[in-house]
Amino acid sequence: MYGERVRNILEKIGPPVNTVFVPDGETYKNLREVDRVYNFLVDYGVDRNGLILSLGGGVIGDLAGFVAATYLRGIRFAQITTTLLSAVDASVGGKVAVNLSKGKNMVGCFHQPEFIVTDVSFLQSLTERNYLAGVAEVIKHGLIGDPKLFDVLDGNIAYIKARQEKLVEFMIERSIRYKSRVVAKDERESGPRAVLNFGHTVGHAIESVMNYTGINHGEAVAIGTLSALFLSQKLKKFPQRDVERSVNMIQELGLPTWIRSISVDNIVEHLRYDKKRHKSKLNFVLLNKVGSPEYGVDVPIDTIKQVLIYQRRRFNQE
Ligand SMILES: NC(=O)c1ccc[n+]([C@@H]2O[C@H](COP(=O)([O-])OP(=O)(O)OC[C@H]3O[C@@H](n4cnc5c(N)ncnc54)[C@H](O)[C@@H]3O)[C@@H](O)[C@H]2O)c1
Ligand SMILES: [Zn+2]
Repeated sequence: MYGERVRNILEKIGPPVNTVFVPDGETYKNLREVDRVYNFLVDYGVDRNGLILSLGGGVIGDLAGFVAATYLRGIRFAQITTTLLSAVDASVGGKVAVNLSKGKNMVGCFHQPEFIVTDVSFLQSLTERNYLAGVAEVIKHGLIGDPKLFDVLDGNIAYIKARQEKLVEFMIERSIRYKSRVVAKDERESGPRAVLNFGHTVGHAIESVMNYTGINHGEAVAIGTLSALFLSQKLKKFPQRDVERSVNMIQELGLPTWIRSISVDNIVEHLRYDKKRHKSKLNFVLLNKVGSPEYGVDVPIDTIKQVLIYQRRRFNQE
């Protein structure tokens, strides 16, 4: 969609540009495609001075970054993001990876891009679902680290839905500032970076229960965010008012609050037996208030179950 435009600009200003296409979809974020791209790089004589520039969403960014991190033991890499999710999340932080048939993002490393470019006009052509999936991660950033972002989201749902450029820019800028601050303190995720997993424990379980079909990552994160908020209210005195503001936000945007076809037991089973370990307590990121996260909180399975039952009862009708 935007390849020609970018290529024309690059050709006017710089050295020769060679292009390789990767087919569309998460299933192509694999080692076979990586191998195909390596071969292309060899054929074009790309050496240590080369730069890999990705143009696309998180799939392309993760794959291109992985290739750049490993080809000739690592060459430079930069990204032009074309989805909201990749602009606010996937492109920031230096995690690059591909999937194995046995699991997502199982092979990867840390490789920081030289720069990231985002042109908000590119985001106008996204499907509604993909755009909203990105907004779900922005809500997460607001909740865990940026009360002002959270307030702006809360007061501008209609404009966000309409992709008003000023607001899209604001969401991207605030998200990048916040995420890069967290990553700068803990690049390799030895501790504090874990706060970024807020909403993702239940979110991942739901994606996995649904076999990654019929739901996208951001939608699962929206549901998991609500579960984490209900837990925070119960265990950390997170204010009810902000729980309700988040519920309204997610509903008004049109993100899911629950999925009818899944059962609480399926989710709980998945959480308990993740990585073949039988667990009676789970590690969560919870919030004391907006902008004040706590990671590594032990939560008994029973409490999680109670919260999920509440969430199902409350939202199952919709
Ligand atoms: N590295 C990280 O830290 C990190 C963080 C979050 C997510 N991710 C990864 O990101 C991926 C998901 O990212 P995504 O949602 O961007 O997926 P994606 O790259 O598959 O893009 C989603 C869809 O939108 C299309 N698309 C892209 N740009 C478009 C545009 N401007 N207009 C119209 N359509 C467009 C794509 O062709 C694709 O079909 C996952 O693989 C996930 O693992 C990585
Ligand atoms: Zn996520």
